[in-house]
Amino acid sequence: MNKSQNSDVLIIGSGAAGLSAALHLAENCQVSILSKTTLSSGSTYWAQGGIAAVLDDNDSIEAHVRDTLIAGAGLCHEDSVKRIVSESKEAVAWLQKMGVEFSRDGEDESSLHLTQEGGHSFRRIIHSDDTTGKAVSLSLSDQVLEHPNIQVFERHISVDLVTQADKGSHKIRCNGAYVLDLETDQVQLFQAKVVILATGGASKVYLYTTNPDGASGDGIAMAWRAGCRVANMEFNQFHPTCLYHPQAKSFLISEALRGEGALLKLPNGERFMQRFDERMELAPRDIVARAIDFEMKRLGCDHVLLDISHKPADFVKSHFPNIYETCLALGIDITTSPIPVVPAAHYTCGGVVVDSNGQTDLMNLYAIGETSFTGVHGANRMASNSLLECFVYAKLASEHIIGRLGDIPKPDYAKPWDETRVTIPDEAVVISHNWDELRRFMWDYVGIVRTNKRLQRAQNRISLLQKEIHEFYSNYRVTNDLIELRNLAVVAERIILSATQRKESRGLHYSLDYPEESTIAKDTIMVPINYAGQDMIVSRND
Ligand code: FAD
Ligand code: SIN
Repeated sequence: MNKSQNSDVLIIGSGAAGLSAALHLAENCQVSILSKTTLSSGSTYWAQGGIAAVLDDNDSIEAHVRDTLIAGAGLCHEDSVKRIVSESKEAVAWLQKMGVEFSRDGEDESSLHLTQEGGHSFRRIIHSDDTTGKAVSLSLSDQVLEHPNIQVFERHISVDLVTQADKGSHKIRCNGAYVLDLETDQVQLFQAKVVILATGGASKVYLYTTNPDGASGDGIAMAWRAGCRVANMEFNQFHPTCLYHPQAKSFLISEALRGEGALLKLPNGERFMQRFDERMELAPRDIVARAIDFEMKRLGCDHVLLDISHKPADFVKSHFPNIYETCLALGIDITTSPIPVVPAAHYTCGGVVVDSNGQTDLMNLYAIGETSFTGVHGANRMASNSLLECFVYAKLASEHIIGRLGDIPKPDYAKPWDETRVTIPDEAVVISHNWDELRRFMWDYVGIVRTNKRLQRAQNRISLLQKEIHEFYSNYRVTNDLIELRNLAVVAERIILSATQRKESRGLHYSLDYPEESTIAKDTIMVPINYAGQDMIVSRND
């Protein structure tokens, strides 16, 4: 099939959010979907625990909403939480229609097995063994590949959004993106009536993370540069239990293990969560990660232990086959020994500010999934609410777009990418050095526990890096690593500035200088100087 770079809707990102939106939209219009790696990529593929949904007769929408609000430490937007929770049953039915197989409860074909995770007062997590993301990603990708109205562009990384002044309203609208084809090394112009950012999170900004390499906050950085507000970037979630092993990069040990009875222990075998929270191992993630961080610093140890070996071996193997096999290959038999674990950056609770339909500040630009800030997660996301948010907002945004598409004019002419003033980079070491430096100081200074001094140090360093990266970007041809580094720097600066503004401790933001929670709960909204939410005329292709 000959591919066209023009479509009705351009979706940047092919995780749970992007793939779902493509399938909803393609019934009514022509869609292009980009992935900077392969179609089944992003954090979605690696999701383990599952998807939170109200399916048990004893459970209720009110209980799921209440648990989410408690985990979110006073900052969740209740209307957004209600929106995703009340759509959860329908989202699960849609996934099953798309061919996703979830684990069953015993022999009963009609009922799904529900597991438990931190912060949930009921068993409400549906899953496909311990590889839920893989099941979702592969099923949705298969559907997308077969759909005649969807064009797939793998190994295409978007560099920046194309914006133009809307003739009628004098507002700024988005109608495409400049995209680097990683096979040909050429930057191409993709145009569409509507663009959806579904580029996932930014946890790669930290040295240790559960996320795959591409989680560099590209969508957040592109939207910020184009004039969109971003919010609550200080709330980066650290997952308490990432495998600690020299040969295992970023391997998560699912919270569902704790849901099924796994215990956290110090290296000497002693339990410790009772000293931090009465919910013990099933307290919300911010509390568990902070407790582990505290104990590791107190004892000077480089990991703690997660132990499920007291459960029957068959139970462990059948519930967690992927975790069992992966650990066994590394010499750890989890049915007989505890697992060494450490906290690692896991999820970006903040993001591009959107409304109840996923619309950003820029006309015809939407953001969905981990890239967006819907208000659902507040100061700390509750386990397994993220995939649910992806599915629900993908559907809401698609319905909204379909309702408007007939009234949106075709994009005007836009300038092609200009490479006349740049040359081939001569010193890639500048990029690799800055990547490492950025991720290291973010881990050391803007991690689980923060202070004014550490944040100031991080601010000094990011200002310097921003200057160097800008200079590099202005003089050299773009590459995948340069694009990601440029975006990481924008996101890191937003995290540092948001953390500096928050003069309290709340949820995932903990400051030794302000250990108390303020009585006033408010979001940290950052507004760019070229804010697009007002009437003005700017155009960018620089
Ligand atoms: P992603 O799935 O991250 O997809 C991003 C996509 O954008 C990718 O296709 C990528 O190639 C593309 N992309 C990015 N930048 C560009 C660019 N510049 N140009 C082109 N393409 C681009 N949540 C749960 O609810 N339940 C769980 O059990 C769970 N387990 C998790 C386990 C792990 C190990 C991790 C890392 C996360 C887990 N999460 C879980 C969180 C959840 O998986 C993610 O929040 C969710 O999958 C994000 O989906 P997304 O579609 O927004 O982005
Ligand atoms: C996990 O399985 O522990 C991850 C769940 C999540 O991030 O929601």
